[in-house]
Amino acid sequence: KPQAVIFDLDGVVTDTAHLHFLAWQSIAAELDITVDEQINEQLKGISRMDSLARILRIGGAEQRYSEQEKNRLAERKNALYVASLQQLSPASVLPGIAALLEELHRQDVRVGLASVSLNAPRIIKALGLVEQFDFCADAGQIKHSKPDPEIFIAACAGLGVSPANCIGIEDAQAGVEAINASGMLSLGIGEQLKHADLLLPTTAQLNWPLLQTFWLNQHS
Ligand code: G6P
Ligand code: MG
Repeated sequence: KPQAVIFDLDGVVTDTAHLHFLAWQSIAAELDITVDEQINEQLKGISRMDSLARILRIGGAEQRYSEQEKNRLAERKNALYVASLQQLSPASVLPGIAALLEELHRQDVRVGLASVSLNAPRIIKALGLVEQFDFCADAGQIKHSKPDPEIFIAACAGLGVSPANCIGIEDAQAGVEAINASGMLSLGIGEQLKHADLLLPTTAQLNWPLLQTFWLNQHS
């Protein structure tokens, strides 16, 4: 069996991906830039400042704002996003996740979090899951967003396990690439993802027997 399972947060543990989308959409609208669901897909797993840079590039506005103005825009996006996090509660944990976390502990499989969100600690707290994660990688220490494997490698290091002994779970294309680059097995959540070692349509299909079978099939 795997020694650890490492989870992405937004879109895997809870649906904050949608709240990021709404916050960026309203900031972008002020700049006359349209952010639709397809653009939002490209922002998943991408840090706050990198997301802003992409939005400005899409709007042909990357030269229009000073560093200071960009920082202000990112701060305002975050304020909108943090305000929307008030609606989070343990009921916001996506289907299948809470039961899987408990079962992983029963099976003595370590549990890690690999999110580049600086808000991850407060989200985990609001979801009532602080006790369920053996180690959460610190996004503040990460230099490169996904698809760079840095955050997944940091999560493995914190858990004291080798990536080759772990499964990573992701809903973003950049995240699946990051898992693959780290040397972990990748489990993608969603219909459109490419290159995942296993793809499931939603978190509702996730459970321990399925992870075990996935692991054994890849190591036979
Ligand atoms: C996750 C989300 C991204 C978000 C990033 C930074 O990776 O998928 O959409 O931009 O975290 O989040 P933060 O809360 O630090 O702005
Ligand atoms: Mg995600």
